[in-house]
Amino acid sequence: AGTTLGCQASMATKYLETPEIVDLDWENLGFGLVDTDFMYVAKCGPDGIFSKGEILPFGNIALSPSAAVLNYGQGLFEGLKAHRKTDGSVLLFRPEENAMRMINGSDRLCMPAPTIEQFVDAVKQTVMANKRWVPPTGKGSLYIRPLLIGSGAILGLAPSPEYTFLIYVSPVGNYFKEGLSPINLIVENNFHRAVLGGTGGVKAIGNYASVLKAQRAANQKGYSDVLYLDAVHNKYLEEVSSCNIFVVKGNTISTPAIEGTILPGITRKSIIVVANSKGYKVEERPVSVDELLDADEVFCTGTAVVVSPVGSITYLGKRVEYDGKQRVCDVSKQLYTSLTSLQMGLVDDRMGWTMQL
Ligand code: COI
Repeated sequence: AGTTLGCQASMATKYLETPEIVDLDWENLGFGLVDTDFMYVAKCGPDGIFSKGEILPFGNIALSPSAAVLNYGQGLFEGLKAHRKTDGSVLLFRPEENAMRMINGSDRLCMPAPTIEQFVDAVKQTVMANKRWVPPTGKGSLYIRPLLIGSGAILGLAPSPEYTFLIYVSPVGNYFKEGLSPINLIVENNFHRAVLGGTGGVKAIGNYASVLKAQRAANQKGYSDVLYLDAVHNKYLEEVSSCNIFVVKGNTISTPAIEGTILPGITRKSIIVVANSKGYKVEERPVSVDELLDADEVFCTGTAVVVSPVGSITYLGKRVEYDGKQRVCDVSKQLYTSLTSLQMGLVDDRMGWTMQL
């Protein structure tokens, strides 16, 4: 009996030390970093083969001041999410898509990449190690941030002699401070995000540093974010700093085609399929900025952003409001609900997009 009691006591202590879900203010989760317990780290030398990888305590990493990523921006990142189902288990959403996108981007930035299998396995290990940080169903998600960086020391411009594949996670809520309310965008007329032949079509870390100046100026004027136009004609929609864009007119939903300058978003790709299944006609094509004027609705998609309705867009000083239109974000609400129900395991996943952990 003594042994049994001892065993129960130690199990109880263990349970107290590692509760199934951490005690956080889940109602007020935004998109800020919350330190979690563990991160995944794998390294690769000049042979291009990544080490098995380890789960380590979450914390700072050491880099040479001459690391390729710090000096020449040789780095990629990814973003995907894990959601908690009502039975307590955890679902990943299309992790192989992120693995493939990292492989494409690594080719562009002259880096070796983990295989799809290693990427997905690493994501699973990292999420399971941090399972207690996955928010309760409907209260947010665990944002997973894989990084692939040139971590070797280099002075002259050349590919790094060593790479680090790292994954950390953070529980998150809504990306924009507006929450699920419509955001206000301004069309950028001076800066461009990407040019054909550049790196706009991959998730290079530098793509995100280059949008900060316009984003800050927009925020200071009260806008939520910036909508970019193409660099050749300064006329066709590209994307918002952190997400893709869709324009609704009647039963047709249009979105800029993937032609090398915009990020091939996984939420974008998924929303196209979901919208088609709901009977909308989806067109991937050049979308002129003029089409914003008589659109019924505009919305953004992204892993972090999910599906975010746009309330207004300001272009060359003229503001177009979508909130006041007859249909108030109907399409984006419908698509948001369909997508998130699938991600949380609330409906059958007939697409085979979720991976149960
Ligand atoms: C994502 O949606 O996962 C992104 O990578 C956007 C990032 C700027 C938060």
